[in-house]
Amino acid sequence: MNVKQLAAEKAVEYVQDGMKVGLGTGSTAYWAIRKLGERVSGGLQITAVATSQASEDQARELGIPLVAFGDVDSLDLTIDGADELDGALQLIKGGGGALLREKIVAMGSARMIVVADESKAVTTLGKFPLPVEIVPFAWEWTVAALAKLGCKTELRRSGEDLYKTDNGNYIADCRFVAIESAAELALALQRIPGVVEHGLFIGIADLAIIGKSDGTIEII
Ligand code: 5RP
Repeated sequence: MNVKQLAAEKAVEYVQDGMKVGLGTGSTAYWAIRKLGERVSGGLQITAVATSQASEDQARELGIPLVAFGDVDSLDLTIDGADELDGALQLIKGGGGALLREKIVAMGSARMIVVADESKAVTTLGKFPLPVEIVPFAWEWTVAALAKLGCKTELRRSGEDLYKTDNGNYIADCRFVAIESAAELALALQRIPGVVEHGLFIGIADLAIIGKSDGTIEII
């Protein structure tokens, strides 16, 4: 079993009958959705909300009952991956481009469990370029404003084209030397009008389950 699968399957043990569950996005969340599908086939009764088209497609194929997030009041638990996480459970997310929906869903959940392999655990955030979702209108201005925060920005591409999120926006990947204060940076990002949402998740995750190459699990 690979380490992502190890972490993801442990997280699925927290899912109980009757829960409303948020499904994350990415190669670690994939294993959680797969395990949930197995448990649903075995009789587990849940309803789920997906954070991306890819996760929705996977869940549908596995027979996991899906609802639109707008149709539920709240969720009990969201299981999602991360690109980086520190000891205070501050995260960088959005490597897969789904950060906006992921944040909306995680914040609407009573609990968020992060699943990751050990390479994602860091002392200081920032080695992974911070994904920022921006509106296409005048994106050049938004990217220039982001660069003023002290990062090198790159507009994400998908082959020849600019990458578009499930919401029709662009992603600017912002490379900082290190993010000393995630909270201060989050505030600065929110002040830029063209920014829709950023990949800093602060005070949102409740638990992290980290799969290690020696086959053990660390829980933060
Ligand atoms: C997608 C995400 C993912 O959770 C993050 O990129 C981690 O992905 P993976 O589990 O494939 O490493 O934030 O927007």
